[in-house]
Amino acid sequence: MTRLDKFWADAGIGTRSEVKQMIRKKLVTVNGAPATAPDQKINEISDIVCASGKAVNLRGFVYYLLHKPAGYVSATKDNLFPTVMELVPKGDDLFPVGRLDKDTEGLLLITNDGELAHRLLSPRRHVDKTYLAILDKSAEDDDIEKFEAGVDIGDGDLTLPAKLQILPDNQALLTIHEGRFHQVKRMFHAVGKEVVYLKRLSMGPVKLPECLEKGAYLELQDHEVDSLRNAVR
Ligand code: URA
Repeated sequence: MTRLDKFWADAGIGTRSEVKQMIRKKLVTVNGAPATAPDQKINEISDIVCASGKAVNLRGFVYYLLHKPAGYVSATKDNLFPTVMELVPKGDDLFPVGRLDKDTEGLLLITNDGELAHRLLSPRRHVDKTYLAILDKSAEDDDIEKFEAGVDIGDGDLTLPAKLQILPDNQALLTIHEGRFHQVKRMFHAVGKEVVYLKRLSMGPVKLPECLEKGAYLELQDHEVDSLRNAVR
């Protein structure tokens, strides 16, 4: 939580005295209700602040949805390989939200909103992540129950219940709620299959648009950012 006028000024939207005047003229709303005072506490993650009827990005945050191609590492710097940061506009403090393996493709969020990223990655919040996997052999009906019960991927705890849908041509959709290292590959390995191709299709309510080409990105719309915030409240 922070003071409305402080965030307003920090985000470079205007001075503290400007926001004070706007509040007096009832031009500022917080979640639809007129702001009451410059020192009104707002939740910078979940509150929606409007000035003169337009939502303002108090946070100065950016949110890119990248269709990560294979061959790029999910890091801000790497000595050997290109990083996903080369595929989005340059910006201070941007970082990928979690990691996809170098050979994994699909949806990767890149932002400078540390708080939201932290929540999306928190094991406590269990944000769904759905992957399309192509395997060396078809998944079996038994695997559905095994993944539902949790499998041993070699680091102590069983995996949390995960949902497997078997598709033709050795393909499968897997929805997990955690983000352990190489989790999808290790889960299939634990039931005797190897992942030969992996693509993330969604993270929480945000889906990879089918028309977004590999290596291309788009900026999340305000309502998509709000849906992500709601998913991790
Ligand atoms: N699980 C994996 O094994 N690899 C990824 O890149 C993501 C999830």
